[in-house]
Amino acid sequence: MKILVLNGPNLNLLGVREPGIYGNQTLEDILTDLGQAAAALGVELACLQSNHEGVLIDRIHQAHQEAVRGIILNPGGLTHTSVALRDAIAGVGIPTVEVHLSNVHAREEFRRHSFIAPVAIGQISGFGALGYELALRALVGRKESRGK
Ligand code: DQA
Repeated sequence: MKILVLNGPNLNLLGVREPGIYGNQTLEDILTDLGQAAAALGVELACLQSNHEGVLIDRIHQAHQEAVRGIILNPGGLTHTSVALRDAIAGVGIPTVEVHLSNVHAREEFRRHSFIAPVAIGQISGFGALGYELALRALVGRKESRGK
């Protein structure tokens, strides 16, 4: 089973960026831990971070050709702005879990709205790096529960 892990704009700055909100771990740290959790579950991960909306959209389209079974997506600021990213998720129909390190509902008003949430199977927000592992477990469990 292959899962795509997509991180959007500014998530390459984790570790440096507003540590009081996003913590001290780098994205590499988070993905290393996630890779260990995935290996224990027998899941293959493909990971991409990009600051460019179109690159993320192209990767989602490519996932459709690759039999990717689920997407873990932290869209960063694109969460609150991107109809195009939402349309890409809806277009490929791959089960997607939206992840945020911070609790977007407890921050500025503009972070409460997500263009992605209506096309995701669920949203995990506010649990830091653990959110990625929870998303992984949700996708793996979903597959198992369907007996595929
Ligand atoms: C974020 C929350 C977004 O509102 C913000 O723009 C980010 C990070 C999070 O992981 O908490 O870039 O997605």
